[in-house]
Amino acid sequence: MTAKQSHAISENPNNLNLVEVATYQRRIRASQERVWENVMDWEHLPHLHDSNFQYAELDEAGDWGWRIWSAQDRHSHVELCYDLPKGRYVARSYQGKNQVSEIWTLVTPVLDETDIEVRFLVPDVTKDNQLSVGKFFRDLYSTLWDEDEAMMIERQVRLDSQSNRHPLEIDLGFEDEVMATLPLYVELKSGRYRIISVDGQLKAHSTICPHILGPLDSEVIDNKLTCPWHGYQFDINSGECVLPANATCRLSKAPKITISDHDRPRIKVGFN
Ligand code: FES
Ligand SMILES: [Fe+2]
Repeated sequence: MTAKQSHAISENPNNLNLVEVATYQRRIRASQERVWENVMDWEHLPHLHDSNFQYAELDEAGDWGWRIWSAQDRHSHVELCYDLPKGRYVARSYQGKNQVSEIWTLVTPVLDETDIEVRFLVPDVTKDNQLSVGKFFRDLYSTLWDEDEAMMIERQVRLDSQSNRHPLEIDLGFEDEVMATLPLYVELKSGRYRIISVDGQLKAHSTICPHILGPLDSEVIDNKLTCPWHGYQFDINSGECVLPANATCRLSKAPKITISDHDRPRIKVGFN
């Protein structure tokens, strides 16, 4: 770890021969609050962006930003520093002690949306390679921001819907018809739930991850659900978060499923 460039929000603190290989501009359909939240969130990298990040282990974080190991052998790392008053941040990647990139992003709110402007700086790129290296970074960031934007929009929808009015209980209909249409999604006062059959047993669970409201509608494997945003795993029966081990959140209480005692039984789901 090179201490010299730690927490640096100045340009080129290592005095490298940096070349600006490309820029990337885009309007993000999410507020700057969502954007900053996403920038500060290192934990989503190997999950939401699993095609480009294989590993993230926190080394250090503070009100300056964060630094992660980006490989399990701790040979490479990424450090991201915010300059909130100036609405910008910088991410530097290192292989061993060598800095391999310095990427500045300017964040500008535009009503409920956010403009971003990214500058990619790479050391010692020859003139012949500038175009291809620049294209690599633009393509990479286009994918990363697509994935981030979808996450931010989805999270905003969940935040907004928390104030909506929904019933405490819903009559789903006849059991035979319900069983034929699983999985079913229902909106109740306390949130959105999925009704599924696990080993022939009807179960209801929250589809909203208690971490930061990610979508919990993955396949149930070994009675566990995995959130695609940060990889947290929940036991569908107890609601406990089983991964990561130090997580303190748990699934919100599941509604009760009631099957009526009629010739053709009906199913209700809710908290009554
Ligand atoms: S929102 Fe972070 S793990 Fe689900
Ligand atoms: Fe991201």
